[in-house]
Amino acid sequence: MRGAGLAVHFDPIGNIIGRLEGTDPNAPAVITGSHLDTVPEGGGYDGAVGVVAGLAAIKFLQSSGTLTHPLELIIFAAEESSRFGFMTIGSKAMTGMASRYAWSKAKDPAGVTLEKVLRDRGYNLREVDGASRVKDKIKAFVELHIEQGSFLENAEKKIGVVETIAAPTMLKITVEGVAKHAGSTPMDDRHDALVSAAMIVLAVQSIALEQSHCGTVATVGQLKVSPGAMNVIPGLVELWVDLRGVEQESIIETLQDIKDAVSTIADGQETPIAIDVMLSEKPVQMHEMVVQKIEDICISDKIPYQRMNSGAGHDAMNMARLTPTGMIFIPCRGGISHNFEEFTKLADIQTGIEVLTKTLYDLAK
Ligand code: GLV
Ligand code: MN
Ligand code: MN
Repeated sequence: MRGAGLAVHFDPIGNIIGRLEGTDPNAPAVITGSHLDTVPEGGGYDGAVGVVAGLAAIKFLQSSGTLTHPLELIIFAAEESSRFGFMTIGSKAMTGMASRYAWSKAKDPAGVTLEKVLRDRGYNLREVDGASRVKDKIKAFVELHIEQGSFLENAEKKIGVVETIAAPTMLKITVEGVAKHAGSTPMDDRHDALVSAAMIVLAVQSIALEQSHCGTVATVGQLKVSPGAMNVIPGLVELWVDLRGVEQESIIETLQDIKDAVSTIADGQETPIAIDVMLSEKPVQMHEMVVQKIEDICISDKIPYQRMNSGAGHDAMNMARLTPTGMIFIPCRGGISHNFEEFTKLADIQTGIEVLTKTLYDLAK
């Protein structure tokens, strides 16, 4: 970013912000950006493409004349939930939604606290509110991202113009059983926490299947079994549920059905079960002004595009609270993402960069 002539600074949560001034020092900024962190065994495109595309777009705009509005490129910190169990930490802090109390308890899978990770990098969790930005200093936010599904590829479209981002709800479920000897405990004298957890996994799947006509999905992607030995009946299991949807009613119904199923399993198996709602968000609409601009560019450049929803979460969900926001999706091979096999053709990235560049130009000229 410095090489491209941007003034760069780190905000109090570790977001990296590069800024190029426009001709009007009082004009609100037009912002693009995404994230560089990823999930375990993730690919090289989720987030990273949006950062690189933003930099390419700003470099191009800078070399082709001065704009009225400042341009900013933001690399958001800790977008993925996989390390600390909280997603979009950087953009939440930026949009005044820092959960300092909850974050102060967050630990990564190795037991290192978010607080320590921040401290080691010279930040202080108590000061993250300082990352929040003022609404009237921002004109718009546009994020380019791979689709992470196969809709564009199957429809042979090059650009997805996002209308709604599905809301993530994240649950931590703790099942309490009784750890006992696996050899000497008869089958009718067990309170096996993993057996209850397995029932929960199946219940989550069948409940979400019933809601799938609304686009709702739910996944158990992580289990922690304690004490975790082959010859010990599991005494404690923690499992994490990721539930998403674009229809709020369906999300609420799914959540209620999961709670009911969990309480039936707890009673039937005599294994007490607690549910912690780690995150519960509402679907987020992109701003029609930005959506329309992206669509108009696709129409005038004859780029095959489609308005669509995003099943994945993005920093744009939070930025939408602060400023008119839009997202540009580009295809990804086989719809594979959160996987090392993630891939997008350079030509498709180029098309995305062209649309992003024109959108930023239109907003900042
Ligand atoms: C971000 O990758 C998400 O979990 O949607
Ligand atoms: Mn991701
Ligand atoms: Mn992402």
